[in-house]
Amino acid sequence: MNKTLESTTTLHNGIKIPHLGLGTWQSRGGKCEDAVAYALTHGYSMIDTAQGYDNEKQVGKGWKASGRARGEIFITTKIKNSNQGYQSTKKSFAKSLKDLQTDYVDLLLIHWPEVKQFSKTVETWRALVELHKEGLARSIGVSNFTIDLTEKLLDEIDVVPAVNQVEFHAFLYQKELLDYCREQHIQIEAYSPIARAKFFDHEVLKRVAKKHQKTAAQVMLAWLLQHDLVVIPKSVNPERIDENADIFFDLDEEDMQALNNLQPQNRLVDGFWAPDW
Ligand SMILES: NC(=O)c1ccc[n+]([C@@H]2O[C@H](COP(=O)([O-])OP(=O)(O)OC[C@H]3O[C@@H](n4cnc5c(N)ncnc54)[C@H](OP(=O)(O)O)[C@@H]3O)[C@@H](O)[C@H]2O)c1
Repeated sequence: MNKTLESTTTLHNGIKIPHLGLGTWQSRGGKCEDAVAYALTHGYSMIDTAQGYDNEKQVGKGWKASGRARGEIFITTKIKNSNQGYQSTKKSFAKSLKDLQTDYVDLLLIHWPEVKQFSKTVETWRALVELHKEGLARSIGVSNFTIDLTEKLLDEIDVVPAVNQVEFHAFLYQKELLDYCREQHIQIEAYSPIARAKFFDHEVLKRVAKKHQKTAAQVMLAWLLQHDLVVIPKSVNPERIDENADIFFDLDEEDMQALNNLQPQNRLVDGFWAPDW
């Protein structure tokens, strides 16, 4: 594999994004702080948080505890649905920056499309475009966007998201969406990349893991890297944080084919669900 823990991929706006980041959904309090500090001092350079995770302060504290310089790390946050709309996006983002103890984020996403009130999401996107121009968000993107919704957004505003963060793992191989995003130069970031550890007993996964002397989680993450996705596995456990970073090895064509065809496929998060927070 030509990727390493230190190498990056380049977004369509020229910003470099690490291949691996630490997810923080459900990481709370001191555990979140410790996990962020541990990850940033053990090879990770990227942290994924969101207004809706209620842990931006802890992410900021964990980063500070790590001693890493701001320019060395990549922070992503997301506008939650109750903050969508032009003014509330800007206001809430100012609070995110304060909580994260930073002057800018590297990536700012719309967490969920407002499917029933899409005009609100368009307004949110307008605010993100401005925040990007002001230098407060080095890159902007979306999350949980289907092909149709991305097209709908692009009908309104001509700024293509740099990233679409979606559920993507070997048990949810969204090939059509991946092909579409590649055509549009939108980088897919895979959330729930190890499918929340739910299917580690699958025979194919176990066979490939044994062949490479790796764990099921490592095989699932390597499969995503080999498809050129960015991965953001979550853990608050130091051994697992290390395990999830030891993923820069090659799967051969036979492994890839087997993993591309895993059955049954399973979506863990309803794509049309949008939270009321
Ligand atoms: N944009 C969105 O709407 C959205 C939605 C969902 C997730 N996300 C982001 O994506 C990140 C990752 O997704 P996720 O948290 O849903 O799922 P995930 O990363 O696939 O799985 C996390 C779960 O697996 C456990 N785990 C982690 N590494 C493990 C390992 N090597 N072996 C066994 N168990 C392991 C973790 O527990 P421990 O912590 O106890 O290790 C946790 O319960 C989130 O944290 C969040 O940042 C975004």
